[in-house]
Amino acid sequence: MKAWPDNPFLQGYYEPITFEATAPDLVVEGEMPKDLNGTFYRNGPNPQFPPENEYHFFTGDGMVHAFTFDGGRVSHMNRWARTQRFEIEKRLGGSYFSGLNPLETDPRLLEFVLNDKQGVANTNVIWHGDRLLLLTEGFMPFQMDPKTLESLGTWDFYGKLKTSMTAHSRIDPRTGEMLFYSYWSSGPFTTGMELHKVSREGFVTESHAFEAPYAAMVHDFVVTDNYILFPVMPLTGSMDRAMAGQPPLAWEPEKGTRIGVMPRNGTPDAMVWIAADPCYVFHFMNGHDKGGVITLEACEFEHAPLFPFVNGDMTPVTNPNMSQWVIDMNDSNPSVSMRAIGDRGAEFPVIDPRFAMQEYRHGWYTSSDRKVPAPIPDSDFIYNAIDHIDVTTGEVDSYSFGNCYVTEPMFVPSEGAAEGEGYVLDLIYNRDTNTSDMCVFNSLDISAGPVARAKVSHRVPVSFHGTWVGA
Ligand SMILES: [Fe+2]
Repeated sequence: MKAWPDNPFLQGYYEPITFEATAPDLVVEGEMPKDLNGTFYRNGPNPQFPPENEYHFFTGDGMVHAFTFDGGRVSHMNRWARTQRFEIEKRLGGSYFSGLNPLETDPRLLEFVLNDKQGVANTNVIWHGDRLLLLTEGFMPFQMDPKTLESLGTWDFYGKLKTSMTAHSRIDPRTGEMLFYSYWSSGPFTTGMELHKVSREGFVTESHAFEAPYAAMVHDFVVTDNYILFPVMPLTGSMDRAMAGQPPLAWEPEKGTRIGVMPRNGTPDAMVWIAADPCYVFHFMNGHDKGGVITLEACEFEHAPLFPFVNGDMTPVTNPNMSQWVIDMNDSNPSVSMRAIGDRGAEFPVIDPRFAMQEYRHGWYTSSDRKVPAPIPDSDFIYNAIDHIDVTTGEVDSYSFGNCYVTEPMFVPSEGAAEGEGYVLDLIYNRDTNTSDMCVFNSLDISAGPVARAKVSHRVPVSFHGTWVGA
């Protein structure tokens, strides 16, 4: 195999690994909690072959890393998502698919690409309806065996799902109901969107189609007890641009932000579209409503990072901050107020999942001590810290790993404990040793540092999202 191209997203921390392995018993430093039992799955891009076209790191083949905790012992296993794209490239012995522009694909594979339902399955991994599902922005869920990580193929909810499923869904901890949506549901770069509700057992109970104000990349959404919010922000998609050789996805701030708010138990006919200043959010931490007032926390960028303007120029560096949005639905013409509740950089937020959609206090996210410059073009600093935030006071407790990258944390509640009491897990990459550690913190004492580390003997490359499945 030839060398990885000189692309910052294929070098260093981001360089793919070329093997699948099983490590049954990792070396543990510190005291690994014996009451932490279950598996932490992570999913991220790990291309099988060096790309021939320009690479965007949202488009590498998915690889799942599973860390299983069992009475103080920790095992590690990694497997590729063997999607149809993966199998085609494996047979052909190289990279044949383009990054973000499907029209740049090898012409012999164009029809396949335009009808592909699986994509690269690289963005999220969730557990719902007793299924481990790998999710990507514009494709159907891809199922994996939770024990062996064997690829099981597309999951379409017993034939009920006809559209894609985005990478982020919301699960109501009280009922087990999962809500999710798709966008570009009437074809690439269209305004079609669809909302879906799935019961605890995995049956689709409701699907509703509606139109977005413009075709945009809508990465995440918010669900509260009484409302569903679709924040449409001006990272737009355009087939005309794609066909003209311009950026198919681009930052178009003049379109502004439009937040669709609909009643949780209603239909999109009742959707209210609220205009706001342009901004971009990949990830929302949580949201709740009280007396018709919706409050939510968002990791807000000034503009979409990693994407160009319409003319192809890259947008300048931008760092996300934790921001609180408040919308009073009692107003006849509701607006959104947005205010920063932190200034340290905040991405990949998580909460105690038992408090999803409800009033809550505790959140954790990746942050930066801003002391280590980033080797990638769209960041000032590497994300090397974990923060805990009390959203009721804005108080932040932080731990920095120094010359290391952190990933999206995971909160695991202790049995029967109050909100926020338990463990926070985080997979870090140490640039000095070129190895990764699975770190475990006491969730409400982050600044004390990890209480235990399970050591992987090699680098686990960048990953986006993960899930915890209790034993
Ligand atoms: Fe995401």
